[in-house]
Amino acid sequence: MTDYYREGAERAAGVRQLFSKIARRYDCVNDIQSLGFHRLWKHRMITMLNLPSEGVVLDLACGSGDLALLFARQQSPLRILGGDYTFEMLRVAKLRSLGWSVPPGWIHLDALSLPFRNSSFDAVAMAYGLRNMADPPRALREIWRVLKPGSSLALLDFGKPAQPWIRQSYYFFLRTIQPFLGSLFFRDAKTYRYIYESLMRYPAREGVKKLLLESGFSNVECEDLCLGTMSLHIARK
Ligand SMILES: C[S@@+](CC[C@H](N)C(=O)[O-])C[C@H]1O[C@@H](n2cnc3c(N)ncnc32)[C@H](O)[C@@H]1O
Repeated sequence: MTDYYREGAERAAGVRQLFSKIARRYDCVNDIQSLGFHRLWKHRMITMLNLPSEGVVLDLACGSGDLALLFARQQSPLRILGGDYTFEMLRVAKLRSLGWSVPPGWIHLDALSLPFRNSSFDAVAMAYGLRNMADPPRALREIWRVLKPGSSLALLDFGKPAQPWIRQSYYFFLRTIQPFLGSLFFRDAKTYRYIYESLMRYPAREGVKKLLLESGFSNVECEDLCLGTMSLHIARK
């Protein structure tokens, strides 16, 4: 068991500790781990979300702000807000948007208790956030609450490939090779074993689809990316 995956009331503290620690290297590691593919998947997310031409979009668990910055680059009249509960990650996001003519707004928040009125947003996107939350069903109910009727949520996260040999090789990679690389480059195997630990407890794919439906969403679609190692869900309020 890692130091960062903790059960129950300690879950949120462990996650915050992990992201506070890796905030400054987060973008670099993301590019190395995914060989840059996470950028393509995030573009795909935006395409699938079918953004409205105006209104307010929330990038939830925005981390260093990748999605919010992608939205802001669309140069539409959309207003973009990025929210996260790790100050160090938000600090990186703010730095990245310094000098932008219309930067996203950045806000410190907890996805389990969103500080917004009902029906505030025209779209919500969350990449690699839900798996890290202490109470994913509660986060989804909160997102449903703050979305306007008829608007959509896009979720991107690690998946669980349906093909057994792909799934087993992928789990082997996450369980052993990734922590080995973490210890080699950063002298830190525990952080890089966290993805495996959190994925094993994450419903992923059909499980997330079920949670979305139970939270009130409809028209739930799930797209497998990269042989099912990533899953993209689109759901409508
Ligand atoms: C793996 S990072 C994803 C960052 C970014 N969305 C991306 O795709 O690069 C996960 C983020 O979720 C945030 N997070 C976890 N639980 C949260 C919660 N309850 N409320 C807000 N943010 C949360 C963490 O602080 C961290 O920045």
